Amino acid sequence: MSAQPVMEHNTAPDRTALDSKVPEKGVIPVAGGKGGTGKSTLTANIGVGLALLGYRVILVDGDLGGADLHLFFDQVAPSRSLSSFLTREASSLKDVMLSTSHQNLKLICGGNELIGTANLPFLVKEKLMRHVRGLEADFVVLDLGAGTAFNTLDLFSMSNHGLVVCTPQPHARVDAYGFIKNVVYRKLRRAFSRNKAVLDRIDHFARTSGRRSGRIRELIDELAAVDVGAAEQAAADLRCLRPRLVLNQVRNRRQLEDAGRFIRLVEEYLSVSMEYAGYVRADINIVQACERRRPLLLDNPGSPAAQDISSLVLNGLGVADRLQRFGPVNDGKMADIARAHTRASGTYECAREGARK
Ligand SMILES: Nc1ncnc2c1ncn2[C@@H]1O[C@H](COP(=O)(O)OP(=O)(O)OP(=O)(O)O)[C@@H](O)[C@H]1O
Ligand SMILES: [Mg+2]
Repeated sequence: MSAQPVMEHNTAPDRTALDSKVPEKGVIPVAGGKGGTGKSTLTANIGVGLALLGYRVILVDGDLGGADLHLFFDQVAPSRSLSSFLTREASSLKDVMLSTSHQNLKLICGGNELIGTANLPFLVKEKLMRHVRGLEADFVVLDLGAGTAFNTLDLFSMSNHGLVVCTPQPHARVDAYGFIKNVVYRKLRRAFSRNKAVLDRIDHFARTSGRRSGRIRELIDELAAVDVGAAEQAAADLRCLRPRLVLNQVRNRRQLEDAGRFIRLVEEYLSVSMEYAGYVRADINIVQACERRRPLLLDNPGSPAAQDISSLVLNGLGVADRLQRFGPVNDGKMADIARAHTRASGTYECAREGARK
C-alpha cells in the first residue's frame, strides 16, 4: 500500500480552531513501563475520542524503535515520519504530519528506521520537545515505548499529568512502579544537574536505596542536610508530579481494588500523588479492531472497552465538552457520535481506499 496521507471527508467548518499552540495541559504522554499493556491502543483511541469531542488532536508516535501507532490508521508504510524530522530531512513536525479520516485528528508516525535511537542526543531531544509544544493543536497525545530509556522518561516528563497504562498483572505493576521511580529520579537529577553536592546525594541514594526502604521522603531529608533550599525545591517538584493511572485489560472488580493499593504504594514510597484516571475492560473487540487496523472507538463504538475509553476521556481526563454535544458523564452519547462519524458517507472505508490509491 502506498503511504499517502489519507483523505479527509468531514468538510464541516472547523469550529475548534481557537488556539494556535498546544496548551501546557494539552500534551498527554502515554507510557507504562511494561510492554504490551495497551499504550498504543489507548493513545489511538483517546486521540479519536478527543477529536470526536471537537478538539484538534495530533497523535505522535514517540516509541522510537518500536513505532506502530500508524497501524491503527491503516498506514502500513507511512510516507512521512518522525525519523525525517530527527535526521533534519524535514525542518518541522508539520512537514511529517499525516491526515486521518477525521479532520481534527492528525498523525505523526514514528518510522521504523529509528531502531537504535532509544536515546536521542540531548539537543535533538530538546528540539523534538520544543516542536511538539509548538504544534497547532488542542491536544498532543504521545505514544511512548516500554521501558525506562531516557527518551521515554523525558518525553513523559513533558507533562506532570502523563498517563501510566498498567494491566492487573503483578509484572505490569512492578514495571509501572519502576517507571514512575525512574521518572522521579530523572526529574530530580535534571533539576539539580548543576548542583554537584545534591546530585551526588541523589545518585548515592538511588544506588543504595535497594538495601533500605528507599522512601523518597528519606532522600528529601538527606538533601536537607546538604542544602535546605534544594530539599524544598525537590519536594515542591514532586508535589507537582501527578501521573494518572489507567488500568487496562481489567477482568474483575478485585483488580480495580489492587489499583487503589498501587496508588497508595506510589504515594508512600515515591512521594508522588498518582491520580486514578479510569479503567478499560479486557475486550476481544479491541483485538478485532486492531486486526482491522481501525481504532476501536470507530470500529465498534458500542463495545464495552469503547464505552470505558469514552468514559476515560470524558471523566478521567477531565476534558470539557467544547462543542457541548452532551453532558459530562454521558459516554453512551459519544458512542452515537462515533457511529455517526463512521457511517457518514462511508467515512472510514473511503479513507482507507484513498490511502491505497
Ligand atoms: N482492553 C484490552 N482488551 C483486550 N486486548 C487489549 C486491550 N488493550 C490492548 N489489548 C491488546 O494488547 C496488545 C498490546 O496492545 P498495544 O500494542 O496497544 O500495547 P503497547 O503497550 O503499546 O505495546 P508495546 O509496549 O509493545 O508498544 C494488542 O494486541 C492489543 O490489541
Ligand atoms: Mg505500543
